[in-house]
Amino acid sequence: MALIPRGVRFRVEPLEPSVRGYVCENYGRPFTLPDLGPIGANGLANPRDFLAPVAAYEDVERPVEVVNKFCGNLWAATYDHSPLDVVAWHGTHVPYVYDLRRFNVLGTISYDHPDPSIFTVLTSPSDTPGLAGVDFVVFAPRWLVGEDTFRPPYFHRNVMSEYMGLIEGAYDAKTGGAGGFVPGGGSLHNMMSAHGPDHETFERASAAELAPHRLDDGLAFMFETRWPVTATRQALEADHLQGRYDDVWQGLERHFRP
Ligand SMILES: [Fe+2]
Repeated sequence: MALIPRGVRFRVEPLEPSVRGYVCENYGRPFTLPDLGPIGANGLANPRDFLAPVAAYEDVERPVEVVNKFCGNLWAATYDHSPLDVVAWHGTHVPYVYDLRRFNVLGTISYDHPDPSIFTVLTSPSDTPGLAGVDFVVFAPRWLVGEDTFRPPYFHRNVMSEYMGLIEGAYDAKTGGAGGFVPGGGSLHNMMSAHGPDHETFERASAAELAPHRLDDGLAFMFETRWPVTATRQALEADHLQGRYDDVWQGLERHFRP
């Protein structure tokens, strides 16, 4: 992942034309590492793994189109030179990269699930503890060893909105369903929307032997925010929109035994 601080002009040069990415624009407090609380001095994303570049610049006098976002619209202007002419800086307002494979995943070694907030890489806190402007969360390869526990994510509804993306491989709670969840895709569960593993995942996990199991075939992430997330018309009318998304939960049997 790359983080570009507010106000910094940047240019993206993909290494190959097919490159795609996900973008989260943070309007709130700057991203920071989450408070580790009783976890202590280290764990999750460690500060040593965030890498800032040395200054690079270009001294170019030719027309350069610069695109700005302002009040939700994109505006273009042509400069007579490249604005990428900053040769040095001081302070901490710098871009950086972080290799998500360096994430030190913590989880249960007894029973039950920790809250998925245990997978937070960076957070933009709000004035209310536990209710971030946005959390950036990664579901990285890890061992599942929970005893007496349904191991995929639990069924829930919560006060935050969840946008998930899949960088590579598969996600352990969305393995079935027409259209499925494929790398480059996204799923959105807005605040207070009930959700959980699809039917196929529920059946498989319910019957699984609870031996240590390594999840290593996927890298998924989530932007979790206190704000509602609305979809663009482009997204809602896309040919690849997964229609009848609710179908992934059809066929779940009643197991209600009070
Ligand atoms: Fe969720």
